[in-house]
Amino acid sequence: MPEFQHIEAKPVAGALGAEISGIDLGHIDEETLDEIRRALHEYLVIFFRGQDITPAQQLAFARRWGDIHVHPFIKGMDDYPEILEIRKTPADKSNFGGAWHSDQMFSPRPAMGTILYARQVPSKGGDTLFTNQYLAYETLSDGLRETLAGLRAVSVGDRFKSTGGRTRLDIHAERPSMQVKDPGNVQTTASHPVVRTHPETGRKALYIGGHCQHFDGLTDAESAPLLDWLCQHSTKPEFQCRFRWEEGSVAFWDNRCTQHYALDDYPGETRVMHRVTICGDTPV
Ligand code: SIN
Repeated sequence: MPEFQHIEAKPVAGALGAEISGIDLGHIDEETLDEIRRALHEYLVIFFRGQDITPAQQLAFARRWGDIHVHPFIKGMDDYPEILEIRKTPADKSNFGGAWHSDQMFSPRPAMGTILYARQVPSKGGDTLFTNQYLAYETLSDGLRETLAGLRAVSVGDRFKSTGGRTRLDIHAERPSMQVKDPGNVQTTASHPVVRTHPETGRKALYIGGHCQHFDGLTDAESAPLLDWLCQHSTKPEFQCRFRWEEGSVAFWDNRCTQHYALDDYPGETRVMHRVTICGDTPV
């Protein structure tokens, strides 16, 4: 367990996740930032409770980790286009983030990290699940690890991509609280290695998720058996943690070694989150 001077870290599960206490995300000095970085590397997703930050402070904190990644399809907030307001009300029939995924895998340089801030939470439900993709890789057989070395998967973020018989645009139409936008020339299909090496920890992680459509060079049908198996394997309960949100909670996760899943189990209630994603590098 890492030693910290400026923060306290309390693990929330065996696989990943820790609650960090003793800090105000609106005012972070360099030493504390360094400890938060070490905690993120150790626990992969870290949680902060009772934060009272403005959108500008959330953005300022995110910018200390890198450039902000703007979502190509979903419109940001009017005053802060780099912040995505994830809003689900009783009128919204589909749930943003309701499938296992790593953020923006469809980009050539997918998100390094995501900072999600809870503004309004339902009285029960609306938790987020996270899974540890280092463990997903490390628990594979030697034979499968050899098979995956050199394999790449193509991730598709296309607005017309069909999932479960409906296009993404159909799904967005069931979510009137979040407005879509035209991605313009932004690239929304990308091929990435199925096993990536984390640029800061040097550890290998399985890099797959809901955006993966097929292995590079193989058809969807040829890819499905192994891709589906990997997706199931990588989200085993033993690799997971679960976060119960309160108003003012913040989760900061590392997309290079985790996946996450937003639960849709609060019918008749409203949940509002502010999401900022930080640009990453080209996965290798
Ligand atoms: C997301 O997938 O980024 C949203 C997660 C959540 O709302 O819990």
